[in-house]
Amino acid sequence: MFLLATKTMGIRSRAEARSKISLSSPGSASASTQILMARLYPKWRQKGGEITARSAMLAQVTTILGGMTPANFLRTHWQKRPLLVKQALPEFRGIIDERELFALARRPDAISRLVVEHPRTKRGRWELHEGPFEDLAPSDLPADHWSLLVQGVEGLHPGGWALLQEFAFIPAARVDDLMISYAADGGSVGPHEDLYDVFLLQGPGRRRWQISTHGDHAFDPTAPIKILKKFKAEKEYLLEPGDMLYLPPGVAHLGIAEGPGFTYSIGFVAPSHESLLQNFLAYLGQRLEPTIDPHAMYEDPHLKQTSHPLALGHQMISTVERLLTRIHWNRAQVEEFLGRLLTGPKPHVQFARPQPPISRSTFAQRLRGDGSLGLALPTRGLLDARGRHVFLNGEMHSVAAKTARLFTELLSARSMSLPLSVSAADLPLFYDLYYAGFITLS
Ligand code: SIN
Ligand code: CO
Repeated sequence: MFLLATKTMGIRSRAEARSKISLSSPGSASASTQILMARLYPKWRQKGGEITARSAMLAQVTTILGGMTPANFLRTHWQKRPLLVKQALPEFRGIIDERELFALARRPDAISRLVVEHPRTKRGRWELHEGPFEDLAPSDLPADHWSLLVQGVEGLHPGGWALLQEFAFIPAARVDDLMISYAADGGSVGPHEDLYDVFLLQGPGRRRWQISTHGDHAFDPTAPIKILKKFKAEKEYLLEPGDMLYLPPGVAHLGIAEGPGFTYSIGFVAPSHESLLQNFLAYLGQRLEPTIDPHAMYEDPHLKQTSHPLALGHQMISTVERLLTRIHWNRAQVEEFLGRLLTGPKPHVQFARPQPPISRSTFAQRLRGDGSLGLALPTRGLLDARGRHVFLNGEMHSVAAKTARLFTELLSARSMSLPLSVSAADLPLFYDLYYAGFITLS
């Protein structure tokens, strides 16, 4: 498994098969999606008995960028300069309350942190505690100056993916995660820079953000969290529910809660060169391994006497150089590497296998019946550009064009209505995914 290095930011630490499927009914938003969307957006309505999830989300795109088209945003702001969008998601109420966030912070498959600030103390001003927090309750904490942060919420709570879908104008390959923080009055994680593009969406409550683009990048080596030694605000914004601030990597920022409130950080990973190169070498190593004869050794039966026994001989270097030409790669392998890397589960992720699993024939029957087929919350997927492979949770599967279309739909909507007519050739892939806990039937 190839893993991306976890984030280093102020607070964030994140069988081949052939298949053919014909859809007997087009996917529509599942009941749970309908409830979630209605909760996210009070204006979400069922139109003539049909939920038009996709068009509603596309309609939101213009709002979420403050009337700017995605193309314009990408040209003028993405990876370049901050953008404040007032009422990016009007009436946004959030997907989770304080009690639910504390419950997530107790889970072993969540990355959670608690940052407490002692504003009047110079030394030991910041306290960092890492979850899971077995019994933590708001009543155990001071009245102010703390933040509880949970990363990877999309893998833990169904509302996460619906929210990430709002950002579908950015390729899924760049999505890292949704982090939700809840801060008491005055709560903050200190002034810091992130290495990632981030949309800071204000949930219930208010937060004052200060940003600086020209400051000193040095971190305070004495603090337990990555905070800047010096921070001088150049601009300031007060975010209210539904407002959003986009920050490209490297813009220093400090957000202080004005009263208790939630911040939703939608983060976009940019793998470091170090991670790409090291993971690619590991990938090549794994590909090469089955082709290596474990008994084969360097040989020099024609070794000649030398007047410089300490020098590395030309012949030895040439022989090893020839051996190394067996390490090669092509574009398709780079694509496979990226697909596996970017969908690979992060270390804390757990997939719940069905307990007990139904048999393959019962599974086939269920696909022909009522209900829905969904992706498990932690499942991540991508498709290759030609629609011949699907990458799911670090695996690559060869698929027929029809199946690739089905996965395109499943990966955007996260759930599809049954029945699905699955050919005998496709069944093993779907059953394997079900058995691994990557997809679910309900
Ligand atoms: C927070 O939610 O408190 C911090 C988010 C960020 O600065 O990226
Ligand atoms: Co940040």
